[in-house]
Amino acid sequence: MEVIICASEGEVATMAAARIAEALSRRPDPVMGLATGSSPLGTYAKLKERVDSGKLDLTRARFFALDEYIGLPPSDPNSYAETIRTTFTEPLGVNPAQVRVPDGMAADIDAACDAYEAAIRDAGGIDAQILGIGSNGHIGFNEPGSSFASRTRPKTLTATTRADNARFFGEGRVPTHCVTQGLGTIMDAGRLVLTATGAKKAAAVAAAVEGPVTAMCPASILQFHRYATVVVDEAAASKLQLHEYYRDTFDMLPEGYRPH
Ligand code: GLP
Repeated sequence: MEVIICASEGEVATMAAARIAEALSRRPDPVMGLATGSSPLGTYAKLKERVDSGKLDLTRARFFALDEYIGLPPSDPNSYAETIRTTFTEPLGVNPAQVRVPDGMAADIDAACDAYEAAIRDAGGIDAQILGIGSNGHIGFNEPGSSFASRTRPKTLTATTRADNARFFGEGRVPTHCVTQGLGTIMDAGRLVLTATGAKKAAAVAAAVEGPVTAMCPASILQFHRYATVVVDEAAASKLQLHEYYRDTFDMLPEGYRPH
């Protein structure tokens, strides 16, 4: 796993955007996996800079979001469909027809999940997936206990996640269920880039990067991905045992050498 420790949130965003842009540049119609939450916002802003300066062409790109609440229509300001629209699709000038978010309103949720998986497959798979991490180690909405083989499916949210997200809905009003890409779906992406900032994420980051690979910390599955990058600031890196080593691997890079 590549672990990049940055001096600032801005640098986290720059490094994450660089890794994503690189993975997207390999084909003319690449596929990017999108995440919600505050973590990817800086990275989206850096990707926008690349688009605006002509360094990154997303005209033919396709996009798939990680997750959605069950029971919220796309018009709801707290739905992830709306969040993706306002934080990514609109600012980056992406054609909304090229962006898909799991359907949390489908009459047949299982069929909608299967159709979502099929759409990702038909698009040729996801080239680069941006990820945040929940304080309990979840990625997407794959809560602790999620199967490492899981595909897009409905999940029940944990009390921890509902408490973390109560700031958007108000106490007791957070939806109890969601649809999320599975850990197996996420692991099929060509490149995974997880960003985390702030001391509140330090324990989850340490468990994901250096802890045992366990369903109790779903993000720990990244240890099995060939091209996983974790980009963190000093606060989020503060509980990493190999902190010095990650710095060395970056600072001591021979000219022209690019690690995985
Ligand atoms: C939600 C999302 C995750 C996200 C997490 C952390 O639970 N489903 O994809 O990573 O929140 O959010 P934040 O980046 O705001 O800390």
